[in-house]
Amino acid sequence: MEVRPKMMTVFGFGLVLGFIVLTFVPAGYGQVPIPTRQDGFWYEERVAGVDSVVIEAFFDPVCPDSRDSWPPLKQALSNYGSRVSLVVHPFALPYHDNAFVCSRALHVVNGLNSSATFQLLESFFHHQEGFYGKATFNLSRASVVDKVAKFAAKTVGGSSYTQLKSGFTDTKTDHATRISFKYGCVKGVYGTPFFFVNGFPLPDDGSTLDYKKWKSIIDPLLFA
Ligand SMILES: *[C@@H]1O[C@H](CO)[C@@H](O)[C@H](O)[C@H]1NC(C)=O
Ligand SMILES: *[C@@H]1O[C@H](CO)[C@@H](O)[C@H](O)[C@H]1NC(C)=O
Repeated sequence: MEVRPKMMTVFGFGLVLGFIVLTFVPAGYGQVPIPTRQDGFWYEERVAGVDSVVIEAFFDPVCPDSRDSWPPLKQALSNYGSRVSLVVHPFALPYHDNAFVCSRALHVVNGLNSSATFQLLESFFHHQEGFYGKATFNLSRASVVDKVAKFAAKTVGGSSYTQLKSGFTDTKTDHATRISFKYGCVKGVYGTPFFFVNGFPLPDDGSTLDYKKWKSIIDPLLFA
């Protein structure tokens, strides 16, 4: 007899709490804020036109599979010229220790000299072993950032090391790198490399897309 009113009280309290949560937590909670501009780096500044075939690539700069997929894609891009555009989004995989800081370096450099972004991406691909988790296991976070900044400065020349280094304490570049990651998440990216062509995902069959395969994907779109 005495249990019932207590249960009702608990139940009633739950209802009130539920009401408060539903009413006062903003409706957009959990959504990604829309960035002021689209994410990504356009290869050779070849921004897509209405007739272009658009390839979106999600690359982790310290991922060996991303590295291996780049030469055939680059070859395809040079073959098709202005009819095919590529936009690259850095996508930092959580199981690559330095992926975020290396992705951030791309945003830092892009902010200083956008034409040097792909140069840095290629340099990461060529020398990525130095940034693997194993190679930097005993380094502090500060040393890793320093190493990345020095590496970037050496690669892109023009921009000075100090400028690059201060790019890593600019919250804007942190934000931009997060947006790149979140954009991938929104599109369902779960590994790298990950490609979309005209907005549609390419099936991941585990093998690297070679030049022939890129041709077999793009030719029908251009010459159908
Ligand atoms: C890290 O430091 C430990 C202890 O000094 C050493 O045994 C190990 O070889 C170091 N690892 C690397 C990758 O330098
Ligand atoms: C920007 O980068 C490009 C490509 O690396 C380079 O040729 C150019 O000199 C750089 N510009 C400046 C102002 O550093």
